[in-house]
Order: sequence, then C-alpha cells, then structure tokens
Amino acid sequence: MHHSKLSQKIGILGGGQLGKMLCQAGSILGLDISILEKDTTFPAASVCTSFVCGDITDYDDVVQFGMKMDVITIEIENVNTDALEALEQMGKKVYPPSAALKIIKDKGKQKIFYEGSEIPSSDFTLYKSREEILSDVVKGTLNIPFVQKSRTEGYDGKGVQVVRSSDDLDFLIEGATLVEDMVEIESEIAVIVARNPSGDMKAFPVVEMQFHPVANLVEFLFCPSSLSNIKQLEAEKLALEITEKLDIVGLLAVEMFVSKDGAILINEVAPRPHNSGHHTIEACSTSQYEMHLRAILDLPLGSTELIIPAVMINLLGEPDYQGKVVYQNIENCLSIDGVYPHLYGKKETKPYRKMGHVTIVDKNLDIAIEKARIVQKTLKVIS
Ligand SMILES: Nc1ncnc2c1ncn2[C@@H]1O[C@H](COP(=O)(O)OP(=O)(O)O)[C@@H](O)[C@H]1O
Ligand SMILES: [Mg+2]
Repeated sequence: MHHSKLSQKIGILGGGQLGKMLCQAGSILGLDISILEKDTTFPAASVCTSFVCGDITDYDDVVQFGMKMDVITIEIENVNTDALEALEQMGKKVYPPSAALKIIKDKGKQKIFYEGSEIPSSDFTLYKSREEILSDVVKGTLNIPFVQKSRTEGYDGKGVQVVRSSDDLDFLIEGATLVEDMVEIESEIAVIVARNPSGDMKAFPVVEMQFHPVANLVEFLFCPSSLSNIKQLEAEKLALEITEKLDIVGLLAVEMFVSKDGAILINEVAPRPHNSGHHTIEACSTSQYEMHLRAILDLPLGSTELIIPAVMINLLGEPDYQGKVVYQNIENCLSIDGVYPHLYGKKETKPYRKMGHVTIVDKNLDIAIEKARIVQKTLKVIS
C-alpha cells in the first residue's frame, strides 16, 4: 500500500514540553504522532495522537514502540541508543541517526569529534575520576580556572562545575568527566539547523543568550543577535558544517561561545528542538518544531526568516515554592501586546523547574526587551 510522506506514523521518545510543541506543530499538518513516556501526566498528553507508557531508556520498551512506527525521533538525548540502532537495522527511519546520537550523548565523544573534524572548540582532557583531576592540579599539569563536565546526562547547567579557585575543587563531580579550558565569554549564541534526508539544509537566524547567574539557565534570549553580519555568517557556516559532518536528519541546535578576542567556539550541540528556538513559533516563517517534522518526513524545508524581533524568557519555578502550580499575574502579562505565554501544563512546580516560557515580539527589539523585563518581574511561578 502506498503511504504518502505525511501519513507516516511518527514516534517520539519523550513527552515533555519539546514533545508537546512538536505535536502542536504536527497537528497543523494533520500528522499522526505517538509518544513513548513513562510519566502519565506528561506535557504532550493533551496534544499527541496516541501514548504508549514505557521507559525511553529501556531497550525493549523503545524497540517495541519503534517497531509500530515508520519514523522515530526524540525530544531528549537520554534515550536507549542501542534500541535505536536495532530499529535502524530493521529498516526503520531513525532521526537523528543513532550514530550521531551516541556521539552527542557523551560530551567527551563530542569533544573528540570536534577535535577530529577541525571544528573550533575549547581544549579538553578526559578524566576517569575526581582524584585524577586533583592529582593533575597538584602536579601542575592542570591549571585553574577550568570547567568540569559530566560526560553524560547533564542538562540546564546540572553536571557543569566551574572551577575558578582552589576552593571550588571541593565541588568536583565524581566519576567520568571532561575538563575544558575556561573560555572568556563575550556572548553565548545558538544556531539551529534543519536537514532532511535529501541533504537540504536551512539555518535559523543567530540567537543570543543571557544566563541566570544562580540556576545557570538561559535567563532570556533574543533575536536578532547583536553580532555583526560577518560573525553571524561565520556562526551559521559552522553550524551547517557540523550538521553535515554528523549526518543529522531533523534539527541540530548548535550552542557557541563568542570569546573576548572574537573567536567563535562550539560549546555543545543537541539533535532536537531546543530552548533557543522557542521564539520561532511566533517570530519566524516556520517554527523549529514544524521544521523538525518537515525534515524527518523528507518534506521541503520552510523559510527560516525572522519576521519580527523576539525575546524569550523561561518560566522557572520560584526557588521557595513546591506543589500545585499557580501562575501569579498571568493576566497582566496577557494584557501586554506581543506577549505570548506558553504554559507546559506541568501540575507541580519545583524550584527552578521549567514550567513554561514567554515569547515577546515587537518590531523594535529594545521595546520587546523592555516588555520582557516587565514580564520577568511580574509573572511568578508559585504554589
Ligand atoms: N569551557 C567553558 N568556559 C566557560 N564557560 C563555560 C564553558 N563550558 C560551559 N560553560 C558555561 O556553562 C553553561 C552550561 O554548559 P553546557 O556544556 O552548555 O551544559 P548544559 O548541558 O547544562 O547546557 C554554558 O552555557 C556556559 O555558560
Ligand atoms: Mg548547554
């Protein structure tokens, strides 16, 4: 029986907010999207076509789920890649490919890949234990400052330890980690690239981030960035190059540092929709979510043009609240032109938990930033 590209059964591993927004974009194209998720109160529940209860890190759960699908994709890297490889061998389309995901899941392997592919990234060393790191510091073969990272399962700054002075050595992470040279950061930027199996690629405009000093989460993000056109082109070119070299199908979000001396260095990549692309829903011709679906279905990629300047802020649970969520002052924010809250539908708030985001658009970026500051001051996630 002939199946059109759009009638393929899509399976997503994970049903968090990124899965939810993929389903929302998919529903516009009438797509059939199933979610594998072990938590039964997941954000994508209200918008997916169907739901299978299972563990995305479990080999059998992923294989059984994937066997019923035509195309399998992810919304989080922490999935069983051996199962994805088995599905590929059965002839299933798995995007991103398991080979790329195996590299990306391990920040050590990512760094080895950058080094081998001559992609600019800070110098690094792999370590098996914190004792090895301490011994290198004592020997003088490792100099403070440096940044230590868990090789796997880090996210939102968890699993990153910045060592600025010898006092910070008490907080070294146990186990297999990597240590990177500390970059003197001028700004942090990201470029999201979409690529389909035919090899067509599109890059979204560069976004620039500002980080929350305590939670180490993106505080707000804006687009267009403050970079010169030449620097933006350089960032875009690098992101396209990495996407091709990793043979990505779907999205690749490329996080980069612009150093004080003007060099662009790759920080890390994520082969899925990304926090730095939330604003594309309101601000770009095609959202990152629709773009991911177009790419994995081998459809023509849409335009990535920025239609209007945008600011995005994450809505994090306030530090002192835990329990049934309340969005304080949400109505005030809804009354401001160009302010678009996205609430993920998580029932419980916890300190710094990502509960939603707000995109603020305005023809004038400075006005959008002003409005974002008002939202940031007034809209609070409490219980
Ligand atoms: N080599 C580095 N030099 C300076 N700051 C860094 C370095 N690596 C990471 N950071 C800071 O830590 C943040 C989180 O690191 P990252 O590797 O992106 O972890 P996560 O997976 O949690 O996003 C970065 O966005 C940046 O602010
Ligand atoms: Mg990061």
